[in-house]
Amino acid sequence: MASKVTVIGTGNFGSTVAFILAMRGSCHEVVLHGRNINVAKGKALDMSQAANAAREHTIVRAAEGPEDMAGSQIVVITAGAPRTPGMSRDDLLTMNAQIVKKYALEIKEHAPGSIVIVVSNPLDVMAYVVHKYTGFPRERILGMAGILDSARMAHFIYEKLGYGAGQIRATIMGGHGDTMVPLPKFTTVAGVPISDLLDSEEIGEVVKKTRDGGAQIVNLLGDGSAYYAPAKSTAVMVDAILKDTNQIHSCAVMLQGEYGYNDIVSGVPVMIGANGVQKVIEMTLNDLQKTRFKKSVASVQEMVDSLCKTDFFNDCEGDENA
Ligand code: 2OP
Repeated sequence: MASKVTVIGTGNFGSTVAFILAMRGSCHEVVLHGRNINVAKGKALDMSQAANAAREHTIVRAAEGPEDMAGSQIVVITAGAPRTPGMSRDDLLTMNAQIVKKYALEIKEHAPGSIVIVVSNPLDVMAYVVHKYTGFPRERILGMAGILDSARMAHFIYEKLGYGAGQIRATIMGGHGDTMVPLPKFTTVAGVPISDLLDSEEIGEVVKKTRDGGAQIVNLLGDGSAYYAPAKSTAVMVDAILKDTNQIHSCAVMLQGEYGYNDIVSGVPVMIGANGVQKVIEMTLNDLQKTRFKKSVASVQEMVDSLCKTDFFNDCEGDENA
């Protein structure tokens, strides 16, 4: 079967996701769906030609309208306002919730069998919005962020050590926000615990830098947020689904009793394969890790509650298929 991935949003993030998929020949067709059709068409042509240069078979097309996402196995939502210096991801809440809601309704109508990967910020809440407005089962809605935050943590560990690049496996749970939960106790370099390589002060610095990693890039760029590492992390998820790898990655999913939470999205280890979420993995956490995870879940819940107070969810039909 021909594989098709739609990427919603043709800004730096969406374009880079599409470009990585085209350069890897991850699927037969990538559809770029954005507000400005000419920009989408120009980028699609450019990427299709790049795929030829790379001797890959992927065709990138621009959507003329939402109906062009029909038949997609995966839809990636990158649309939304990016952060600017001084803004937290959470500051984007109301604006991006409206944008993501619009696209969730389009997906429900035109790609009802698809798996949705959400990357618009604040990501955990946006994944929650997609749940409510598509009514898709939780297996088919994943938020990207754990892979990105783990990659950032790995980078900062490498900066401290000066060796081990590509061998660092960092673990992160919780929301993709200031309360994310880096887990140094589950972090290794080629199997060696980082506590054997760095002292607690150094590990503390790594954790702080990881939490601030997105903001650091926002401040340097001046007008927008990171997109290379976020796009690569998204492409890793697309590949895991299309290749049915059943690999474990930290992703944002709707919790249904796991870790003691219900009806809230947060980042946890997930087995990803052809059906999307194949399994949510429950790790044994110590008391400190549980407390931090609780705080992170609470900060996502607070944002959901503040949307509820504006009657945002009043017109959603809920999870009728869940
Ligand atoms: C970041 O952390 C875009 O949220 C993304 O850079």
